[in-house]
Amino acid sequence: MAQAGLKKAVVLCAGEGTRLRPLTFSRPKHLLPVAGRPLLGWALDALAEAGVEQVALVVGHRPEAIQRYVGDGSAWGLRACYVTQEKPLGLAHAVACARHFVGEDEFLVYLGDNLLEFGVRALVEAYLAQRPVAALFVKEVEDPRAYGVVVTEGDRVVSVVEKPADPPSNLAIVGAYAFSPAIMQAIRETPPSPRGEYEITDAIQRLVAGPGEVIAVPVQGFWEDAGRPAELLLANRLYLDRMEPKLLGHVNARSRVEGPVQVGRGTRVTNCTLFGPCLVGENCVLSDSVIGPYVSIDAGTYVSDSRVENCIVQQDCKIRHLQGGLRDSVLGTQVEVLGREGGSQNPLSLLLGDMSSIRLF
Ligand code: DAU
Repeated sequence: MAQAGLKKAVVLCAGEGTRLRPLTFSRPKHLLPVAGRPLLGWALDALAEAGVEQVALVVGHRPEAIQRYVGDGSAWGLRACYVTQEKPLGLAHAVACARHFVGEDEFLVYLGDNLLEFGVRALVEAYLAQRPVAALFVKEVEDPRAYGVVVTEGDRVVSVVEKPADPPSNLAIVGAYAFSPAIMQAIRETPPSPRGEYEITDAIQRLVAGPGEVIAVPVQGFWEDAGRPAELLLANRLYLDRMEPKLLGHVNARSRVEGPVQVGRGTRVTNCTLFGPCLVGENCVLSDSVIGPYVSIDAGTYVSDSRVENCIVQQDCKIRHLQGGLRDSVLGTQVEVLGREGGSQNPLSLLLGDMSSIRLF
């Protein structure tokens, strides 16, 4: 029997994250940290908060890492299961992989690399109030060519097109959708696009052309599709802006803390200036450095005699003698970037996969 309400969500986490290489060689992009927490953690928060009870995670690239992180979903108060998409053949294909999970129910689709300031509650409410065949979250953007684009009349969608060279409007499709089960039939009828993918946008266009109504729901607050390094850093900034200050580690009297800063348990900060927003995880050692603003450093990292600004530094890294500064950078886990004392004053901007090592002599 069909369930009432939007209690199920399909979360798309397959895809290789090629635009975030080399970070994604060793882990799916959905587990890259934003403000000290995997992207996917924020996404699951949003679903739980909107009343979702069951999620199916569509996985492909490095599925075991996602299963280890999400487990049975109970950390979010959700029931989680996993569906494998052997090849990333497109969003419509990924949704079709979850057809047994969906059954005859209404459901949400959430792209696991999308971050929304106010989550998906507004989408759920609009769908439940109007019961259209589909509801799309949309947002006006300057250049919509990298997105699905919608044309609307009032809140009714009159056409959708995927990544058009010549966009018919500035309204981009955001990575969250509410669907009636009719989408499954539309997906079955959708052929691959010229780029060889089964596009969810093309399946939605079939619904638009059919008898039912597709509605557009404007997103309030920020929306970030963290598909590229610059977007990941921007998402990190947006989440750090919302962070509460909390000093649990030890900051010595000769250090200075300005603005919202979190320092995790077991961390020692000696003779540093920390400019918030800035988040330092547990068991780090920071000395003689200027850190922030907009830096998140994961547990077990060591920084000395360096400046670090607008960076994501994952677990167990070592940064030493970078007086010129590390800026606009994303470092994987166990990365070493070692300069020499009195070395270059030039800033560095790096994108380094796990276990990389750079020595500047
Ligand atoms: O971010 C919003 C945009 O997301 C929409 O405006 C577009 O209409 C929509 O097609 C999509 O475009 P992207 O190019 O950003 O999609 P991407 O390839 O990044 O995939 C989005 C998510 O879906 C990501 O978490 C990986 C997952 N995925 C992707 C593919 C192609 C799958 O699970 N399976 C797949 O086959």
